[in-house]
Amino acid sequence: MDPLLNLRDLLQHEIDDLYSAEEQIIEAMPAMAEKATNRQLKAGLNEHLRVTKEQKKRLDKVKSLLQSNQEGERNKSFLSEIFGTDTKCKGVEGLIKEGEKLMGEDMDPQVMDAAIIAAAQKIEHYEISGYGTARAFAAGLGLQDVAKLLQTTLDEEYKSDNMLTDLAVRKVNVEAEDGGANTEMRSNSGRGNGQNGNTGSTSSRSGSKSGSSASKKAAPKKATQKTAAKKSSGAKKAAKKSSR
Ligand SMILES: [Fe+2]
Repeated sequence: MDPLLNLRDLLQHEIDDLYSAEEQIIEAMPAMAEKATNRQLKAGLNEHLRVTKEQKKRLDKVKSLLQSNQEGERNKSFLSEIFGTDTKCKGVEGLIKEGEKLMGEDMDPQVMDAAIIAAAQKIEHYEISGYGTARAFAAGLGLQDVAKLLQTTLDEEYKSDNMLTDLAVRKVNVEAEDGGANTEMRSNSGRGNGQNGNTGSTSSRSGSKSGSSASKKAAPKKATQKTAAKKSSGAKKAAKKSSR
């Protein structure tokens, strides 16, 4: 790897890392969608695959903007254009492997759906962090066109993360509790209202304007999944009492 001498070099490195991440996600996502049973989850993953392909194209635009912006680095950029960069996103590679290992386990279909969402959100949060950081670097360097493109993708990542959280808390996690038995009855009982984060860490859109760390300002105003479960168990106890 070439030495990173300044923030501009670090931005280029982050962009290469995200490019590799998107490439790996495009390759891995069809298998995740294939394994999903819940129709909304399957459709959501396929839609995100389409969005991810656009995000990769957007990174191509970012790369050419960075290239035209840096006259002194023409040779380096020209060579990396021909031979590619040696940056492989090890973070997403690991998260994908971990997800594939989990999906290879023997699981009830409803539990598999919950596992797929968990794996997808780990990847999503990596991307949110990466795009938030890169956007902050670009804005700091006065590269407004680059920052704007990165912000667009960051917004899409948040949207997808929120969709997964909503689906998990409202439906998939509920169904996975006992492998789908009595799902209808319990999902209509008010458990999970779609307003609770699956993890609560980065589900807020407010992080899209944050600084280096995208999740820094994404303070979870919403309850966590744990809180939701607690509330729900309280509701269960109350229901038991009243039925006595
Ligand atoms: Fe992405």
